[in-house]
Amino acid sequence: MCGIVGYAGHRPAVEVVMSGLKRLEYRGYDSAGVAVVADGALDVRKKAGKLANLQAMLELDPMKDASTGMGHTRWATHGGPTDVNAHPHVSSGGRVAVIHNGIIENFAELVAELAADGIVMTSETDTEVVAHLLESTVERTGDLAEAMRAACLRLSGAFTLVALDAQDPGRLVAARRNSPLVVGIGEGEHFLASDVSAFIDYTRQAIELGQDQVVDLHAEGVTVTDFRGEPVEVSPFTVTWDASAAEKGGFDLFMLKEIAEQPKAVADTLLGRIAPDGLLRLDEVHIPVAELREVDKIVIVACGTAYHAGLVAKYAIEHWCRIPCEVELASEFRYRDPILTRRILVIAISQSGETMDTLMAVRHAREQGARVLAICNTNGSTIPRESDAVLYTQAGPEIAVASTKAFLTQIVAVYLVALYLAQVRGNKFGDEVAAIVGQLATMPHKVDLVLDTVEGVRALAQQFADASSVLFIGRHVGYPVALEGALKLKELAYMHAEGFAAGELKHGPIALIEDGVPVIVVVPPPQGRGVLHEKIISNIQEVRARGAVTIVIAEEGDDVVTPYADHLIRVPACPTLMQPLVSTVPLQVFACELATAKGHDVDQPRNLAKSVTVE
Ligand code: G6P
Repeated sequence: MCGIVGYAGHRPAVEVVMSGLKRLEYRGYDSAGVAVVADGALDVRKKAGKLANLQAMLELDPMKDASTGMGHTRWATHGGPTDVNAHPHVSSGGRVAVIHNGIIENFAELVAELAADGIVMTSETDTEVVAHLLESTVERTGDLAEAMRAACLRLSGAFTLVALDAQDPGRLVAARRNSPLVVGIGEGEHFLASDVSAFIDYTRQAIELGQDQVVDLHAEGVTVTDFRGEPVEVSPFTVTWDASAAEKGGFDLFMLKEIAEQPKAVADTLLGRIAPDGLLRLDEVHIPVAELREVDKIVIVACGTAYHAGLVAKYAIEHWCRIPCEVELASEFRYRDPILTRRILVIAISQSGETMDTLMAVRHAREQGARVLAICNTNGSTIPRESDAVLYTQAGPEIAVASTKAFLTQIVAVYLVALYLAQVRGNKFGDEVAAIVGQLATMPHKVDLVLDTVEGVRALAQQFADASSVLFIGRHVGYPVALEGALKLKELAYMHAEGFAAGELKHGPIALIEDGVPVIVVVPPPQGRGVLHEKIISNIQEVRARGAVTIVIAEEGDDVVTPYADHLIRVPACPTLMQPLVSTVPLQVFACELATAKGHDVDQPRNLAKSVTVE
């Protein structure tokens, strides 16, 4: 949350910074601001609301020319989303401007200290203290990097900070702890950003700043040190995806584009991981096979949609590997003192690789001696870097706040891990693994078939725009799919939506059913665990008897459900464990269309952020 951009080079800085902020707006969009140094003084503009408000302000009153600048798009933590609380924040003497992503936990103590020196805070943010701290050192030493290092040693919490000194134009100094920052390396120009999409139009060479490091950046070069000023060696990497991947590509919404990209995302996640004999080759998982054979429990930690992917994966892991598996919300994990040993494999699932709750769970698990395998979509992000091993999902950049293609690829990636474990531990014979891998390989085509039918789902969704509540039910892997369908509707349409295990309905939630309440039912394949299919038919009857309008998602050829469906959405037939990869897609489309019908901003829903880097 919060997007940060910095630039030092030969181009108009405000333009570069604003284009970077546009790309990072998914990280937070309740206010935005930009700062440059011109004629020996800071020029800072900031505005509450989306980036468009700041853009309009700059069009009316353009900023002065500068070739060094920085900008911020905010997701509020300390202090509401107002003009005053927007970043950059400027020190009392007007010399230093700073932008920040994260939370400074000891800010109250620092505010008291600054107050004793007569400094009055003008905003309600924790960030402003850093501007004052930086100014007090820079006034003495004249060196912004030294001031940044000194300030960082005084801060606790999570922060990416970037600062600009009015008396040292042409230089930006940034620091990071527990919050992301990448440096883009161009010719005669350098960039800073929360992620590479901000500068991908200008360069693909990048350096991921490590934990507790400071970068001193000019047009001509960068120097990286630790917080004590010791030089740090950096290893640049090349960004492999291109700028068009971060654009809408002809779709009205990033979310629609990302839904449409799912067949490719699933196919890419399988790519290069299946050997010609149908067995799995997960060379990137650097946990020795001997240790994988000793794993006696798996714990999956994740948040939001990634947590739902974990819930789906549990069914596959226990069925294929016969290893007990728990799935836990990352934000709860470390606070209940979980029992962890070397033989427990913790799987951390995160699209961004920066979610603070998941990162803290990873750290806790490793401190307690467990092995951690990350399933992540963002190369070089913090969670994979702090894990023992990583399997990347190959979804490409996901920009819409509500996760879609990442969810499908997370399921595929954990399935690959589960099958690999079954393979190396001998829970399954080679031909059995190859058969399931063969099923996975057919899924991109099946997801494509679902995409061909979404027009009907869109029309259906519009009919429910006035519903006050929508319930989702499913059994087995259909249960987490129901949870995910409800989450999408909450996130996008701001409607009351709940997912339930269909069998649990009669133990309480059925009281919610009254005339006309829409209930979306995820029906398991009849030829899978037959008993599940029969049971869900009974559950559909129970809700219909109480007046519910049923929207039934069932596979092609399942005619038994037809009489119980007020509306029927067909998905291609597939084995039970594969069904989430097709049954989730109509639910994504349903939520997207319903939110659009209600006039909401689908790509940037209110109060949310794509990457939540605070606990
Ligand atoms: C935020 C997003 C969700 C996402 C969750 C976990 O809350 O709004 O869409 O599922 O974070 O994100 P991660 O990057 O860890 O998968």
